[in-house]
Amino acid sequence: MEILRDAIQASIDHLRPWMSWIEFEPLSDDDRKALIRRWEDDWEAGQEVVFGAYEGDQVVGGCGFHRRAGPKTLEIGYWVHVDHLRQGYATEMARILTSAAFTVPDIERVEIHHDKANTRSGAIPEALGYHFDGESRVKPHAPATIGIDVAWSMAKNEWHSSSLRPLAE
Ligand SMILES: CC(C)(COP(=O)(O)OP(=O)(O)OC[C@H]1O[C@@H](n2cnc3c(N)ncnc32)[C@H](O)[C@@H]1OP(=O)(O)O)[C@@H](O)C(=O)NCCC(=O)NCCS
Repeated sequence: MEILRDAIQASIDHLRPWMSWIEFEPLSDDDRKALIRRWEDDWEAGQEVVFGAYEGDQVVGGCGFHRRAGPKTLEIGYWVHVDHLRQGYATEMARILTSAAFTVPDIERVEIHHDKANTRSGAIPEALGYHFDGESRVKPHAPATIGIDVAWSMAKNEWHSSSLRPLAE
């Protein structure tokens, strides 16, 4: 729990423009423990799933599955620790989660959504070969967002993760 707290604290100014949950930070230790318990309960219940991404004992980012994109579909989210940007971690998290999603019974489609202003995030689905599905007006959810949701998707029968470049050594 401490290493997650420290990673979020170090990255707070980098995450605030884009991530709505950052407005609740800093959480107390008790609240963070409760949050982690809720993540575990959600996973057990087949709902949302939240993962930490680690290099050794360092948290380099986080990612997870949302269930809000409709039946047979999982939506992927990700963030990277400010000290570990542009090393391929977000691409690798999204690649691994896409492969993992298609091992879940009934999941036929994976989506990635980002605000149009968040071009760094949009580079990830594009690099992985996701299809651009279009843009829609939404309520801005974080300070730098402009309220244009950009949607990308990957179909199970089109996903060939083995042909993609592995994370560099
Ligand atoms: C969006 C975000 C997750 C992108 O993180 P990132 O660290 O830049 O992601 P990646 O490193 O995977 O991005 C690809 C870059 O890594 C490089 N890369 C990709 N695979 C690589 C590999 N195997 N080895 C080394 N570098 C690699 C790419 O060439 C690209 O480099 P470039 O920035 O020079 O174009 C990050 O900016 C972030 O946390 N933002 C705040 C939270 C957020 O916006 N989350 C998404 C909300 S929708």
